[in-house]
Amino acid sequence: MAVEVLTTADGRAKAALSRLHAATWQAARTEGRMPPVGRATPPARPARPDRPELLDPRDVPRRRPGSQQGRIAMLHAVAHIELNAVDLHWDIVARFADTPMPAGFYDDWVKSADEESKHFNLICDCLEEMGSHYGALPAHAGMWRAAEDTADDLMGRLAVVPMVLEARGLDVTPGMIDIFARAGETRAVEAMEVIYAEEVHHVSYGSKWFHFLCGRHDLDPKDVFHDLVRRYFHGALKPPFNEEKRAEAGLPPDFYWPLAERPTTQD
Ligand SMILES: [Fe+2]
Ligand SMILES: [Fe+2]
Repeated sequence: MAVEVLTTADGRAKAALSRLHAATWQAARTEGRMPPVGRATPPARPARPDRPELLDPRDVPRRRPGSQQGRIAMLHAVAHIELNAVDLHWDIVARFADTPMPAGFYDDWVKSADEESKHFNLICDCLEEMGSHYGALPAHAGMWRAAEDTADDLMGRLAVVPMVLEARGLDVTPGMIDIFARAGETRAVEAMEVIYAEEVHHVSYGSKWFHFLCGRHDLDPKDVFHDLVRRYFHGALKPPFNEEKRAEAGLPPDFYWPLAERPTTQD
């Protein structure tokens, strides 16, 4: 099921299949059954539609958030992130099936993948209402890099994807909600409020299973987190951090502050 989602190229079709498979999984779990976790080889990179054109981030044109075109560009970038997030959550299910994990590990990532599919659809609906669509603008080509870098390392994957990248979403989403609220784009505000509420859980699942694996291997979570982020994540973390939501998601300040950009020294 995971590989089927990963190898579906069209965004709406990928989201629909993802929601269908998540519903099948959740129906079995509600009946108290644990469907067998099979083995399948996920593709190195997920299938992607012909559009959007994928560009180096330096070549993606910047637009002012004050204009309607700028807001469309921001939503387009969010749609691209959500589509990649659908694939990231199914990829973790398929790629690390050789590591024995409790059923709850699969429940959490299937639920996350389902939510990302809903987020992609919500943002696509907003784009279409504004006269655009996913694929109308170029998008960031580097989005799958974190997955490739951590393809052999489950703890590295958890450290970088939910605990760094998705946690960053918690830092920046309130500012985006403000921009759309000031512009009176109610539909986009509602979509981003759903995203903001649900992403806290994705970060918390990352932290939960990261700590679980540290416990299994008798490792100090904070030290291992710092080592893995330095190994796999290119660049420093950017403050300001959303300390409240990060705390709610099980990310304490001593995890992320030591990895933050240093403010310029005053001496
Ligand atoms: Fe999302
Ligand atoms: Fe997420």
